Amino acid sequence: MGFPWRQTIFFLVIVIAILQVIHISLLSRLEALKNERRKRNAAFKFDKIGHDNPLVYSIKEIEKDRKLLLDAVKESSVLDAFGEMHIINNWIKAESLGNRNHIRKDITLVTQSSLSELYNLLTIIHRWKGLISVGLFTLTRELSIAIEIILSLRKCYPMIRYNTSFHLVYPLLVPLPDLNTHYDLIRLLPSEPSAPSLSSSSRAESIEENICAQLPKIMTALNPGTLNYENEGIPFPNNLLRNVARRNSLTQFVFVIDIDLVPNNNLNYDFIEFAKENRLFEEETKDEKTIFVVPSYEIDSSLVPDHIPKDKTELMLAVNSGYVRPFYYELCWKCQKYTDYEAWQKEPLSPKLDILFEVFWHDPWEPFYISRNTVPMYDERFRQYGFNRISQVCELHMAGYRFSVLNNPFVIHKGMKRPDSFHKDKDLELEKNRILFRHFKNELKDRYRTSSRRCY
Ligand SMILES: *[C@@H]1O[C@H](CO)[C@@H](O)[C@H](O)[C@H]1NC(C)=O
Repeated sequence: MGFPWRQTIFFLVIVIAILQVIHISLLSRLEALKNERRKRNAAFKFDKIGHDNPLVYSIKEIEKDRKLLLDAVKESSVLDAFGEMHIINNWIKAESLGNRNHIRKDITLVTQSSLSELYNLLTIIHRWKGLISVGLFTLTRELSIAIEIILSLRKCYPMIRYNTSFHLVYPLLVPLPDLNTHYDLIRLLPSEPSAPSLSSSSRAESIEENICAQLPKIMTALNPGTLNYENEGIPFPNNLLRNVARRNSLTQFVFVIDIDLVPNNNLNYDFIEFAKENRLFEEETKDEKTIFVVPSYEIDSSLVPDHIPKDKTELMLAVNSGYVRPFYYELCWKCQKYTDYEAWQKEPLSPKLDILFEVFWHDPWEPFYISRNTVPMYDERFRQYGFNRISQVCELHMAGYRFSVLNNPFVIHKGMKRPDSFHKDKDLELEKNRILFRHFKNELKDRYRTSSRRCY
């Protein structure tokens, strides 16, 4: 009898098959573990963490960024068109953008703010989970506070570090303060008489440990009462800020809103899906002149920030109970009414973002909208209050843009605009800008000679 080859081979085949099965199952276990870890990391990185975590933004990185911010200010050389303001593009850049400056198939929320209004960003980041570009205005003497605020924001809100870029504008003719000592943000915290009294050094330490818990309070303490621009005679350069933030947005689409507006949930994600479906990111549609209007509302400020509706269903409930109404309803109804709220509100929340209807532009409609970043820029001569957005919107109209109102999205202004909610110099500013607007319209006639459309 020879060696039992057949049985041996059969046996070996079985053994190999079993080993193979074990191998595969181990591999897939490993893959699952990896996925698990990746998911945990992602959640760890981007959930709002309510306390310091040096693993997220190390002291070393903070020091490095602080030096970067400081050096940018010391070496700043770019000025605005009137030679009155310093501009620092990408004072600090969203980390997800890396070093490359190509234009992405994506959308950026573009906004502008003074340091005292910047706390509003904390509401926006929980609604807009995508790229944000902030044009930040500070007075020269606020620079060292601004640096520490930005570093703390990046430390406490990893999504800000990941997806928000800050661009700085500050006045030219004021000498720089001593920037070499860190500003201690705790100094801005309103003192609480009821709290057990700590010696000032132990108070500082205990807060340094949980700066993130205190940051919203610190930021809201930077209110315009303490930092008053009018006293310094510097008109707020809103259109310059919008342009700076737009020029540094590295995406095909932008959504320009004021810092005290809050978008509905997931608008960036829904819009990207809509854009993909309609091939808006593709070459073939890039010259289409359509802007996408997002209806705007305002909410009773006593209900901010806890009751800001997240989607159209919640919005309609709020509108019907009377604590939310169309933006500028009382103050300048004709500035918004062409959005046709009545028709828009009749349409319930639909499963997909889409165009609901088109509206022909009427003077003085100034809607908020999503558009390509190739639309005309804002006229930087407009500062402070009045005509700063309308001038750009009427240029869109002259340039032949179509205004398409989207079905689901909306923005909500925190607080209702009432005639008495404005500062004392408003009328003066308004008058100045009214004259400027008249000039501007004449210039448009020249610029768009062949257009049959008019701004009135
Ligand atoms: C950051 O932005 C990108 C690009 O829009 C988006 O896909 C991602 O979800 C955002 N991440 C966070 C944490 O907001």
